[in-house]
Amino acid sequence: VQEGNGIKGLVDSGLQNVPAQYVQPPNERIDKSNAYPYDQAPIDLSGLDGLSHGQVAEAIARAAETFGFFQVVNHGVPLQLLESLENSAHGFFGQAPEKKAVYLKGVSPSPLVKYGTSFVPEMEEALEWKDYVSMVYTNDEDALKHWPNECKEVALEYLKTSTKMVKKIVQVLFEHLGVTLDEPRIDAIIALKIVNMNFYPICPNPDLTVGVGRHSDLGILTVLLQDGIGGLYVKLEQEELEKEGKWMEIPSVPGALVINVGDTLQILSNGMYKSAEHRVRTTSTQSRVSIPIFTSPQPTEKIGPLPELVERDGMARYREFIFGDYINNFFGKTHQGKKSLDFA
Ligand code: SIN
Ligand code: FE2
Repeated sequence: VQEGNGIKGLVDSGLQNVPAQYVQPPNERIDKSNAYPYDQAPIDLSGLDGLSHGQVAEAIARAAETFGFFQVVNHGVPLQLLESLENSAHGFFGQAPEKKAVYLKGVSPSPLVKYGTSFVPEMEEALEWKDYVSMVYTNDEDALKHWPNECKEVALEYLKTSTKMVKKIVQVLFEHLGVTLDEPRIDAIIALKIVNMNFYPICPNPDLTVGVGRHSDLGILTVLLQDGIGGLYVKLEQEELEKEGKWMEIPSVPGALVINVGDTLQILSNGMYKSAEHRVRTTSTQSRVSIPIFTSPQPTEKIGPLPELVERDGMARYREFIFGDYINNFFGKTHQGKKSLDFA
């Protein structure tokens, strides 16, 4: 991997085939033709504030219980901002290598910002075809001071407008389980927020590589803006035999955001909501960007199924642990589907 210009640098150098270290073992490659068709309409969140609250809440809970993934429209994040976000992601990764290299691990001037390639490159047997920049939120002032100039303003606005939506969705999801969370409790379970910008350069051999390998997200909810290219696949866990174990592509819907359940929400809900395995296919025609916001408790927080649900269910399906230990476990190994959840 070329220091400072990531996978994009490899591609810009004009290579015709992916280097051997990016070739995935056959069982991890993504077979496009085998995908299950996606038939879920985006959920209109404007309905949450009016007479159709119950119906919309039901749709959200249903999606979180079955797929663990859904799309939303009228989410409160301005449509123009979505476009600016995509443009600034291209702007960031399109810079000269030395402009990005300042944020590489070990040299970044701020612990809040990290630029990198693949997932844990030191450990991956087959590297993922992705560059990214990660921005941790502490407060507005720090964000504007430390996040990269090319994207800090739009990323911060995205985070703030999305947070409102995430809080509403979390509230709806627990209400559905009969638990009313007050504002401080909701704030605590999504206290840590991180915005990533992912860049998947054009890949000469999409059938051999992955943009991101099979994994589930570790936090509460992830908000994801994907551009028009497509390639995000989610594994179906439904009981219906014909669908079980199949992969479904989440199509790109202009103006919509993708929401998915993370491991921590599965644990807090005592297994009611599903943190689904997902992965990303590369493309040979255009580079793709996606911009997730990860929400989770702070690392110091103690995590476990909510006491209200343990009492209701008569058992705790997961043990209690310190969230920081879960984070270390997650980032201490390569992507291996839902294996991180074994920790709980
Ligand atoms: C991820 O889940 O890590 C990335 C999702 C995407 O790029 O669509
Ligand atoms: Fe993910």
